[in-house]
This record gives sequence, C-alpha cells and structure tokens, in this order.
Amino acid sequence: MNARVPLLSIDDLRVHFPITKGVVLRRTVGQVQAVDGVSLELSEGETVGLVGESGSGKTTLGRAVVGLYRPTSGSIAFRGTDLGTIRSEDAKGVRAQLQMVFQDPFASLDPRWPIGASIGEPLRIHGVGNRRERRTRVGELLDVVGLPRRMAGRFPHELSGGQRQRVGLARALALRPALIVADEAVSALDVSVQAQIINLLQRLQREFGLTYLFIAHDLAVVHHISDRVAVMYLGRLVELASGSDLYGKPLHPYTVSLLSANPVPDPAVEARRQRIVLPGDPPNPASPPGGCRFHTRCWLRERLGSPERCASEDPPLRGLASGHTVACHFAEEVADSPVQRHAVGAGD
Ligand SMILES: Nc1ncnc2c1ncn2[C@@H]1O[C@H](COP(=O)(O)OP(=O)(O)O)[C@@H](O)[C@H]1O
Ligand code: SF4
Ligand SMILES: [Mg+2]
Repeated sequence: MNARVPLLSIDDLRVHFPITKGVVLRRTVGQVQAVDGVSLELSEGETVGLVGESGSGKTTLGRAVVGLYRPTSGSIAFRGTDLGTIRSEDAKGVRAQLQMVFQDPFASLDPRWPIGASIGEPLRIHGVGNRRERRTRVGELLDVVGLPRRMAGRFPHELSGGQRQRVGLARALALRPALIVADEAVSALDVSVQAQIINLLQRLQREFGLTYLFIAHDLAVVHHISDRVAVMYLGRLVELASGSDLYGKPLHPYTVSLLSANPVPDPAVEARRQRIVLPGDPPNPASPPGGCRFHTRCWLRERLGSPERCASEDPPLRGLASGHTVACHFAEEVADSPVQRHAVGAGD
C-alpha cells in the first residue's frame, strides 16, 4: 500500500436532500444543500475534529462517509478505492472499516436485546465466527471498552449514559474498523463522564491505530482530542488547520466568532474578552446566500470599505499558512488583528 494514499479522501462531496410537495404526485420543489462541495483528507491514525453550528452539515457529512447517505455528487475514497464505484462483493469488507458512534447510543441499541447481542450483531451480519467464537469476541470487546463481561446480559435501560456510549463503541469496534466517525458522541454526557470517554477514545486510537472524524459543536472538547480541526458553515468547509493554529490563530471570521463564544480557562482573560455575537440564525440551506455564504452575518464584511465582493464572489479555500486553509477573501485582515487576539483570549 502506498503510504502517501490518505486513509480517507473526500472530494468535492455534495449531499442534497430533495424537498417534495404533494402527497400523490410528490414533486421536488427544491434541494436542501446539506453538504455542498466539501473536500477533506484524513491520514491514518489522525483525529480530525469537525465543528460548526447546528445545521451546518456535520452529521450529513459523517453519515455519507460511513455509507448511510449516498453522495449527490463528488466522491469518497477509502485507501484510494472510490466507495461509489466499488464492486458489490468488495463493498461489505470496506464498509466494515468505516463505523460510526452516535450521540444517543439508544438509537443504535435495540431496547429489547441484551447488550451482548447488540455488540455481537455486526459479527453475525458479517458472518464472523460461530456462535461461541462470537460470544468470546463480545467478551473481549467489553474488556476493551472497560465494561465488566457480566454486563453482556444487561439491557440498555439498565445502563448509565457513559456505559451506553461504551457499548456503542464496542459495537463500532466489533469488525475492527480503521475509521470511526464519532458524531456528538460525548455531547450528552456530564463533563466528568465526557473526560472518561475521551480518554477511552484516545487509548483505543493508540491501541488499534484508529482514525477519527470527531464531530461536535463543543469547541473545547474538539480542541482536546483533535490533531486538525475543520470548520463547517452552511454545507461548506470554511477553515481547516492544526488544532493549535485554529484555536490560536483563527483566520475565518466565522471561526473567530465561534471561538469568541467559547469560554477560555483563565477567568481574568475570560472577563476581558469580547464576544462577537452573530446576527440572526444561519440562512436556510435550501437557498443559501450567493457570493460568500457567510456574508449575511459576517462582522468583518461590515468593517470593510467595499463589501460588494463578499456578496457576489464565492471565496475558494486557499492556503494562507502551512497546513492552514481558509475560505475568505479578506482573511489577511483577520490575521494578527485585535479581534482575533481578543477572541482567542490572547489579550490586546
Ligand atoms: N435526512 C434529511 N432529509 C432532509 N434534510 C436533512 C436530512 N438530514 C439533514 N437535513 C438538513 O440538512 C442540513 C444539515 O443537517 P445536519 O447534517 O444534521 O447538520 P449538523 O449535524 O451540523 O447539525 C439541515 O438543514 C438539516 O435540516
Ligand atoms: S469573504 Fe467577506 S463575507 Fe465572507 S467571510 Fe470573508 S469577509 Fe466575511
Ligand atoms: Mg449533527
């Protein structure tokens, strides 16, 4: 295997959902552009965080990666193999390599089944081993996620939120995946339980060489776990950088506003910081604004002398520093500006 082939390559991916009207003659009257032209590569063993407001398309992107949604256009390749054109006899094996854990493991665990059966279900579906071997494997998976083996006989409602998330992980690990999409996997948990699950994720990554696409709206959690962080707005990637660059020197006005709303640990710094509150809600992804999609809410545009370009010309992602790409015509204005320093808590 060529070491330079990324584990996962997402290329100009679009996932649109038709909006239909009428019960009998279901006419398509529009498209929700949930993901609209996203390109992103993940290397083996890295964690890429994906942040953005609710509705920005994070879940849709994650579900497309694991094959739960079909791309409207563009492609997703795993170790160089395009998942859209893969021969059907190979598809099952490749799909097994891509797994997802969800915010609410209840959604993926059958309430009527003891959890051992839920963890073993992927093994059964993929015809792995006989019944006894599968039971042994379920026991090993419980060990791996730090649950006692006797829990195999318990039902989902008897478990705490953290335990259920461990079960969700055990199930995701059953087929020895290479990549796990964690979609708000710790968002519903108490802070102390969040930390335990994140530690577990990091240990599993070291142990099994896993690659993560870690989706969350909580920027602090993402910072802790991610090597690189991607920011989505209205179906698009607007910024991508290493964790330290994105949190220390954000270049997109949207990222700056997200960070300004994210508390920093030092209370003295926190007290001095200014928040940039974005006006209004995100626009409807069925009819996104022309030009820069962020222009209707952008604080930087307001401060520029000639904001016309923002409303007419769609800014492409461009590299501004090594490994740091941003989709804003005027990102240079953000670099080292007082607003940027304020947002990240670096003082005046
Ligand atoms: N299955 C679906 N059918 C129609 N619209 C959807 C579907 N899933 C998501 N959407 C829409 O796509 C947009 C992106 O949603 P989502 O990917 O869930 O964003 P996020 O995870 O960032 O909150 C939203 O406007 C949402 O309403
Ligand atoms: S291109 Fe214009 S509207 Fe878009 S983020 Fe940059 S300054 Fe704001
Ligand atoms: Mg989501």
